[in-house]
Amino acid sequence: VTASADFGSDITATPRALVPVVAGPDVARPRLIHGPVTAVERVGDRYWVLRVAAPHIARTSLPGQFVMISIAAPDEPVIILPRPIAVYGVERDAGTIDLCIGVVGAGTRRLASLTPGVVTTVVGPLGRSFPLGHVTQHLLLVGRGIGVCSLTELSRAATERQIRVTAVVSGRHGGALVGVDRLGRHGAHVMTVTDADGTSDPDQLRASLLARGAISPPDMIATCGSDRLLELCSDLASGWDTTLYTSVEEHMACGLGYCHGCARPVSGTDHEGSLVCTDGPVFQVDRRSAVSAW
Ligand SMILES: Cc1cc2nc3c(=O)[nH]c(=O)nc-3n(C[C@H](O)[C@H](O)[C@H](O)COP(=O)(O)OP(=O)(O)OC[C@H]3O[C@@H](n4cnc5c(N)ncnc54)[C@H](O)[C@@H]3O)c2cc1C
Ligand code: FES
Repeated sequence: VTASADFGSDITATPRALVPVVAGPDVARPRLIHGPVTAVERVGDRYWVLRVAAPHIARTSLPGQFVMISIAAPDEPVIILPRPIAVYGVERDAGTIDLCIGVVGAGTRRLASLTPGVVTTVVGPLGRSFPLGHVTQHLLLVGRGIGVCSLTELSRAATERQIRVTAVVSGRHGGALVGVDRLGRHGAHVMTVTDADGTSDPDQLRASLLARGAISPPDMIATCGSDRLLELCSDLASGWDTTLYTSVEEHMACGLGYCHGCARPVSGTDHEGSLVCTDGPVFQVDRRSAVSAW
């Protein structure tokens, strides 16, 4: 998978052994909702947060789940595939969800141009979520660019359970950092690192995290948005003997397990591997094998 430079991400096609997490009994069935955009906010210099009325998704989505959102209004004569977007935030009482959009192509450009009152078609909640059940003390989140959006609700869920959260937010420069305020509001201790000032360098970040981990190693790491950070997290998880989860990005057409457009290859074969939309997007990383079948 190659993410656009506009993302601020550095996702490459490094094959890793990814193990589907077990879907819990609390996973809700997805629904198709025609939900109006109720607010739009520009964040940093490259992101837009859309607030969409979608009560079922607001009530039932779990951390790390996503929606498929159509970029055409329901009455618009345009046939175009919906786009997968992480649930960046929920307001359960108000029945709204927040979706953070980073523009990389025509679809996300169109989403970023939506204005309050426009009715979107949203299907969700979709995919498997980050499991928090075994975490008791300290959760480490490591996200880059738009990938941070898959981690924000996990931070909220963890702090609600009195779990300490450290969140590393990485981006090209200050204006490309996503979710800093939101993670802070959710109670996370946020570390920002950028390419511009050199702090996102994996060796420097490793030293900084090891210094923190020496005091209180996390009992889970969750990462999204960068293969370099996934490598770093994998090393750290091995050293700390900690469970590592990652949320994977892939092109999707249906988001529901029908089209198989999101199937991962099994390395060295022509077999079809896990479906990112229904077996993921959250996977446990098998630390024993850096290069293996999906
Ligand atoms: C589970 C999941 C959650 C996501 N959450 C968010 C989110 O919260 N906010 C957000 O802005 N985006 C998110 N994305 C990515 C988003 O779906 C894509 O950026 C979007 O579909 C691109 O559509 P487009 O028409 O703008 O660009 P396209 O014209 O389709 O593509 C533009 C460029 O982006 C690359 N690209 C497109 N889709 C992906 C993808 N899924 N993974 C990697 N590279 C891709 C293409 O190869 C191309 O280089 C998520 C993707 C997944 C699978
Ligand atoms: S997107 Fe259709 S099967 Fe995953």
